[in-house]
Amino acid sequence: MYTRLSVNVNKIATIRNARGGNNPDLIKIVKKIESLGADGITVHPRPDERHITTKDVYEIAEVITTEFNVEGFPDERFLKIINDIRPNQVTLVPDAPNTLTSNRGWNYSDLDINLNLIIEKIKKTGSKVSLFIDPSVEMVRLAVELGADRVELYTGLYAESYQQDKESVILKYIESADYAIKNDLEVNAGHDLDLINLEFFKQAIPALREVSIGHALVCDSLIYGLEKTIQLYLSKLK
Ligand code: PXP
Repeated sequence: MYTRLSVNVNKIATIRNARGGNNPDLIKIVKKIESLGADGITVHPRPDERHITTKDVYEIAEVITTEFNVEGFPDERFLKIINDIRPNQVTLVPDAPNTLTSNRGWNYSDLDINLNLIIEKIKKTGSKVSLFIDPSVEMVRLAVELGADRVELYTGLYAESYQQDKESVILKYIESADYAIKNDLEVNAGHDLDLINLEFFKQAIPALREVSIGHALVCDSLIYGLEKTIQLYLSKLK
């Protein structure tokens, strides 16, 4: 199965925000990334707007020609953005507002909000809903119960253990992906994927629908340039 590469552009906005101007121009970079063969763009408009701003999301929505994946915690502000722009995919994450980066998936303890109703509402606007979860059958079951279309498996744990223990850590990803697919959920993955660990992950889960990659891809672009870097990432997904 073809696995899509969605490029997370949060870090581009971080660099721009460091100087308060419009360099690099996020919209130009989004267009460039698309022209270089990426299959989608991911953004995470956090409440403090430390990287992607609300304005950025609306502006990208105007120009994007590939899949638009907007991720975030479903508070009122986020849900208004989603309802206004109706992106192709909405990835819901359980982050508290001050979290440095998403570092775990949804759990039963997060369900003090009506996640099933939120998911139902988003789906009615036409967006696919993906739930960011840790790799476990129990969490896939939760995603099924809540009515999600897709899951995004949190790969931070995989990346952390890759050098010492990739053969054993991958097993719970395979098991979770199998269970998801059997229950008609599509499987995405993301967090800390890079040029070293991506290929093994894809080979272990051939039915992987999409990866979203930001930090490592932007870092690699400093060495190889954006064009070559995107080619390298696409080649790991073949
Ligand atoms: N998926 C989710 C839910 C994320 O929050 C992030 C980071 O914004 C990513 C994927 C991409 O992670 P990375 O920047 O490590 O590639």
